[in-house]
Amino acid sequence: MTGICYTVFLIIFLWMIIRVRADTEVSCVFSESCVLPCSCQGGADVVIHWIQETAEHPLVHSFYHNQDQLGHQNQHFQGRTSLFKDQISRGNVSLRLTGVEVQDEAGYKCHCSTFRGNKDSFIKVKVNAPVRKVSIDQVGNRITCSSNWIYPEPELTWSTSPPSNTKLQNTTTVQQTEQQLYNISSSLILSDSDTDLIYSCTVSTHRNMRRASWRRLSLISSSSGYTTISCSASNTSIMSLIWRFDHNQTILTKPGPDVTYTVSEEWRQHVKDVSESGSLTLQDLTSHQEGTYTCELNNSEETYVTNIFLRIKKDKGIAVSVGVSLCVGAAVAVAVVFVFIYKKKNCRRERVYTEARNCDSQMT
Ligand SMILES: *[C@@H]1O[C@H](CO)[C@@H](O)[C@H](O)[C@H]1NC(C)=O
Ligand SMILES: *[C@@H]1O[C@H](CO)[C@@H](O)[C@H](O)[C@H]1NC(C)=O
Ligand SMILES: *[C@@H]1O[C@H](CO)[C@@H](O)[C@H](O)[C@H]1NC(C)=O
Ligand SMILES: *[C@@H]1O[C@H](CO)[C@@H](O)[C@H](O)[C@H]1NC(C)=O
Repeated sequence: MTGICYTVFLIIFLWMIIRVRADTEVSCVFSESCVLPCSCQGGADVVIHWIQETAEHPLVHSFYHNQDQLGHQNQHFQGRTSLFKDQISRGNVSLRLTGVEVQDEAGYKCHCSTFRGNKDSFIKVKVNAPVRKVSIDQVGNRITCSSNWIYPEPELTWSTSPPSNTKLQNTTTVQQTEQQLYNISSSLILSDSDTDLIYSCTVSTHRNMRRASWRRLSLISSSSGYTTISCSASNTSIMSLIWRFDHNQTILTKPGPDVTYTVSEEWRQHVKDVSESGSLTLQDLTSHQEGTYTCELNNSEETYVTNIFLRIKKDKGIAVSVGVSLCVGAAVAVAVVFVFIYKKKNCRRERVYTEARNCDSQMT
């Protein structure tokens, strides 16, 4: 009998807690500022205590006698909390927290009392450090994807386009920084058989995801005339674009969709044009421009990284223009022109022609 009584009592008790504790959930972004909402009946002589529920030193911020009272404040919150002073009389006792840290993720109580009575409100703070940047890099036959400073713990997945039959063998490591953020990194050994694949690495939390895509280095030969290197992975709308040389040197940047591109001083004489889709057309190339060209293209969700190894051929006359795997109209046109110019060079003509045909068939 008493057992049943206890159970009923417990259920009612739990139900009351759940009902009373209608916690407001607030999502804060790491290192940014965040407002923990709380309202109470306005009036003079208000007493406010902001409390972190599970903390050893729970006092986050106090206010009474018409001023902040921070003598017993938890050191962790020192200099990071404030109230909206001009709003207090109107009953807005929200707390502004700056420089949000992962440790701030907790339950908070906002206690406020005036001559009209007391009120407790409960706020659950969730901290997010969204995936901001996913980098993808290649050394030898290994590509490595990594992303840093994420919270909560992210997931990382690999995929290929078109989908590959072979299982992608990868090793993923996750580390937590001193600030409790997660760094994730994963390596994949490229198989020799799948040469034309686009490898994509997706890093996600329940809040957001970003993907970086990578393609195998392609050789492009060039000596004179123009060389176009294409960038785009699909017809995405470009938010921003960067072309780099040998990973380190910036060739050009285009910071936004409606902004013109800026070419760096060293590359001004070599950059002929950049197309709508991000393809780079180069001119007057010498052996100094032989190396890896990297195109990094952002849209709102994804980062596409394309690496192209440009080999500058010494012998005159070979100028093959290759859209890395997409065939851009311009590339086709250039290739066709060269077919006519170098008619007599049979084997070379064959190569170019094949490419042009491939382009045609892909475009139709
Ligand atoms: C309190 O005031 C701040 C600053 O004006 C505002 O951002 C917040 O939304 C207000 N909160 C409430 C509950 O009115
Ligand atoms: C690509 O562009 C074509 C035509 O402009 C459009 O029909 C298609 O939906 C686009 N594809 C994607 C994935 O945006
Ligand atoms: C793409 O976005 C990331 C994160 O927003 C940024 O770090 C990177 O520089 C951007 N890349 C380009 C090409 O703008
Ligand atoms: C980038 O360039 C600097 C000098 O400009 C050089 O010291 C550094 O090693 C380069 N880094 C890489 C990764 O190539």
